[in-house]
Amino acid sequence: MSIRISPSILSADFANLERDLQRISSADLVHVDVMDGHFVPNLTLGLPVVQRLGEVSPVPLDLHLMIDDADRWAPRYAETGAFSVTFSAEAATDPVSTARAIRSNGARASVAVKPGTDLEPYLQTLDAYDMILVMTVEPGFGGQSFMPETMAKLTRARAAVSASGLDVWLEVDGGITTETIVTAVENGADTVVAGSAVYGGSPVDNIAALRAAAATVALTS
Ligand code: DX5
Ligand code: ZN
Repeated sequence: MSIRISPSILSADFANLERDLQRISSADLVHVDVMDGHFVPNLTLGLPVVQRLGEVSPVPLDLHLMIDDADRWAPRYAETGAFSVTFSAEAATDPVSTARAIRSNGARASVAVKPGTDLEPYLQTLDAYDMILVMTVEPGFGGQSFMPETMAKLTRARAAVSASGLDVWLEVDGGITTETIVTAVENGADTVVAGSAVYGGSPVDNIAALRAAAATVALTS
């Protein structure tokens, strides 16, 4: 299985987003972190910017919503034509209905869990989701350190997906480097977000290095 790489534009130059999207055309997706200053103590961008990013991006948009009132807002983000919309589990009151609304608006539906959030309820309703995002840092900021204690949840998610026979992708986000990507893939990740590890230096070279590191797992397992 080849691993999908989703660079996070949180580490891009916000005054040059179109240019920085072109720099990651060798990636599979582009990860767009939407933060509202309430669910997380950071503020980034919203619907009009996401809409334009989707129009100019060379790769499909992988939206990561870190905003309150996910039930209301996640379907609106799906309407922009985004490939995938991930909402934060802790911000949703009816996650299954929210996922259904995302799908009916044409996007893949995904739910994210913070490091301290129990994943079991979402694994019990796995067919509602096209992807699960296991946060490997506390959401809010780029450049943090990978939390290895989140790997138990990822292993459990991989077992549940395999047992179900469903094609649910498993994404990790936060603190990914050429070293931690190996740990994440060994524990079942198939989709990997990387912000500082891609935009710090040459994005093309960094994406290639992440792919090469991930491929070592496939060779040894
Ligand atoms: C953090 C965001 C991440 C962030 C990752 O809350 O969800 O997507 O951009 O950045 P790095 O890869 O630098 O940890
Ligand atoms: Zn993210």
